[in-house]
Amino acid sequence: MYDFKIEAADKATLYADLASAVEGLVSGESDAVANMANVTALIWETLPDLNWAGFYRNVGGELVVGPFQGRPACIRIAFGEGVCGAAAATLQVQRIEDVHAFPGHIACDSASNSEIVVPIVREGELLAVLDLDSPKQARFTEEDEAGLVRLCEIVAKAI
Ligand code: SME
Repeated sequence: MYDFKIEAADKATLYADLASAVEGLVSGESDAVANMANVTALIWETLPDLNWAGFYRNVGGELVVGPFQGRPACIRIAFGEGVCGAAAATLQVQRIEDVHAFPGHIACDSASNSEIVVPIVREGELLAVLDLDSPKQARFTEEDEAGLVRLCEIVAKAI
């Protein structure tokens, strides 16, 4: 059994602990699906106020849903489409305070109000994106972005 209960007083500590736990979870395992599944479960258990957390993988230049927690989601997203597609096309983090104000946002769950999508890149190649949705407006701060970017650097070596 893996017991990675993370409780931290502040976000910097929370993300530092989360990064250590992710390092531990993926170390010695090369199966991408297994690692994405465990990372998703850990994020879901650790970060508050999420209604969806998971990966879209770059499959031949199209995003295809991967391991996730939350309600069933859109399966395929074209590069440039929605928040995930914007992250894939630009290789830039998309941190959206109000998804309803984002042109072309794809609503997989009507509960979502804010979203962050982090590209996962290895040697210049987009492997996947990490997508987190929240029912809270402006749920994701610069601190969340920094923590999640660090996390995705670890994930990039493990998928
Ligand atoms: N909202 C995303 C689609 C994926 S779901 O949120 C799980 C988007 O606009 O790309």
